[in-house]
Amino acid sequence: MADLLPAIACFALLIGTSGTQDAGPDLSEEEPNFVGPIKNITVALGREAVLTCSVTALGRYKVGWLKAEDQTILSMHNRVVTHNARISVANENGRTWRLQIRQLKESDRGCYMCQINTNVMKKQVGCIDVQVPPDIIDNETSPDVTVHEGGNASLVCSARGRPPPRITWRREDNKAISLRTTSKEMKVDQHKGRTLSLMRVDRSQMGAYLCIATNDVPPAVSKRITLNVNFSPAVKVPNHVLGSPSGSNVTILCLVEAFPNTINYWLLNRTQMLLNGAKHLVEEVRHNYRVTLKLTVKTFMERDAGIYSCVATNSLGKAEGSVRLYEIKIPSTTTTTTTTTTTTTEAPTTMIDTTTVTTVLPIQTTDPYDFQDQDDLNVVDTSSVKSGRNSRRRQQFTFANSSGNTQHQLVVGLLSILVLLRTFR
Ligand SMILES: *[C@@H]1O[C@H](CO)[C@@H](O)[C@H](O)[C@H]1NC(C)=O
Ligand SMILES: *[C@@H]1O[C@H](CO)[C@@H](O)[C@H](O)[C@H]1NC(C)=O
Ligand SMILES: *[C@@H]1O[C@H](CO)[C@@H](O)[C@H](O)[C@H]1NC(C)=O
Ligand SMILES: *[C@@H]1O[C@H](CO)[C@@H](O)[C@H](O)[C@H]1NC(C)=O
Ligand SMILES: *[C@@H]1O[C@H](CO)[C@@H](O)[C@H](O)[C@H]1NC(C)=O
Ligand SMILES: *[C@@H]1O[C@H](CO)[C@@H](O)[C@H](O)[C@H]1NC(C)=O
Repeated sequence: MADLLPAIACFALLIGTSGTQDAGPDLSEEEPNFVGPIKNITVALGREAVLTCSVTALGRYKVGWLKAEDQTILSMHNRVVTHNARISVANENGRTWRLQIRQLKESDRGCYMCQINTNVMKKQVGCIDVQVPPDIIDNETSPDVTVHEGGNASLVCSARGRPPPRITWRREDNKAISLRTTSKEMKVDQHKGRTLSLMRVDRSQMGAYLCIATNDVPPAVSKRITLNVNFSPAVKVPNHVLGSPSGSNVTILCLVEAFPNTINYWLLNRTQMLLNGAKHLVEEVRHNYRVTLKLTVKTFMERDAGIYSCVATNSLGKAEGSVRLYEIKIPSTTTTTTTTTTTTTEAPTTMIDTTTVTTVLPIQTTDPYDFQDQDDLNVVDTSSVKSGRNSRRRQQFTFANSSGNTQHQLVVGLLSILVLLRTFR
């Protein structure tokens, strides 16, 4: 500011003395005047602003530009007075006077005065509005949010900018946002407003949310806020009872939902922990808060039969699921042809035709994630898979995948019983 000359009086004086030897302008001459008002302009930060002042019959008078609010002189005639290197003046035929401000800053916002140093000084004003692209105000914006399932979460996002930015919320994965009120639930692709209030949050709402701030000035900006929904583990077991002929590899599945993520392990007959090795292969596939646990019993033998349980624990709790694995005895007389009927020792004695096996197989070869697309995901019934409940009637009886053995038998009658049981539940 030290480089700026202080006052309008000073400006008039300087121009006056730099003129002719005459004490003042010749009154017989036509007085200069403005052609029209200066057009106000709106310019984005960083761009160039140009204010145009048009005069007639300037004669020997001069034109100067001042910043209106503090009367700082910026230019006198063709000369820039301020030391601000972003400012320049230009004129065409002494009629059109332009004040140019490059790389516009917010501090340039305001009104500028175009003056003519007539005896009675003439002036007019034009204003520059500086638009500013949006910027997120970090200390007024939520950090990542963690809530217990069923609780309320409030995500807040503030942004500055000119004009004031609009805030839009969306999910990073583009899924719909669930907005619940006390009475109803609404799914929206996006939500407008500073605050995203999520009531009675469930696990499906977990994930990254983007708060996007936009105004007329590009670029728009966004901030990513992660919503974590904590809940205790739940385990679902697709098949509670598995039969397999000896010699095949048997894979047992457990589907776990939990957050924070769980520590998982497998137990045999509730005592022996199973680790990767010659006999067992333990695998985990994680997808957000869902984990598919896979245990493969290699070259299953009668002595491997027993109760296999998967256990998942996190800071909020523990859940487990169990599978009874038994051997399907295949009579040595059986050939690989169809229509062989067999009874097994463990499974209820119902006879089937092996041709039906193929129609049932897809049940056991389900992609684990199919399971997760069910609508009732949020009401996983852990009670039904807890230990000691394997005898419940709703159990599914399915055979393990015994690839390499074409003779496995499936108890179709049992499946029909199952269907009936489900119907009557
Ligand atoms: C420019 O803006 C100022 C301040 O907002 C206002 O007083 C003036 O009338 C405007 N001029 C024109 C030509 O619109
Ligand atoms: C955010 O920070 C700015 C300065 O950094 C401060 O003026 C403002 O009061 C802060 N706001 C809050 C809500 O803390
Ligand atoms: C969530 O918000 C609703 C409505 O404001 C309120 O009735 C309810 O008690 C809140 N729940 C929790 C867990 O704070
Ligand atoms: C079982 O798996 C092992 C390797 O893990 C493989 O060598 C073997 O052939 C498999 N057995 C059958 C019957 O698929
Ligand atoms: C597991 O327990 C069952 C029943 O008590 C038993 O028949 C089976 O041999 C046990 N399995 C193993 C591998 O110890
Ligand atoms: C069952 O075996 C078939 C044929 O070997 C294989 O393609 C399929 O992936 C297996 N399914 C499971 C669940 O292991």
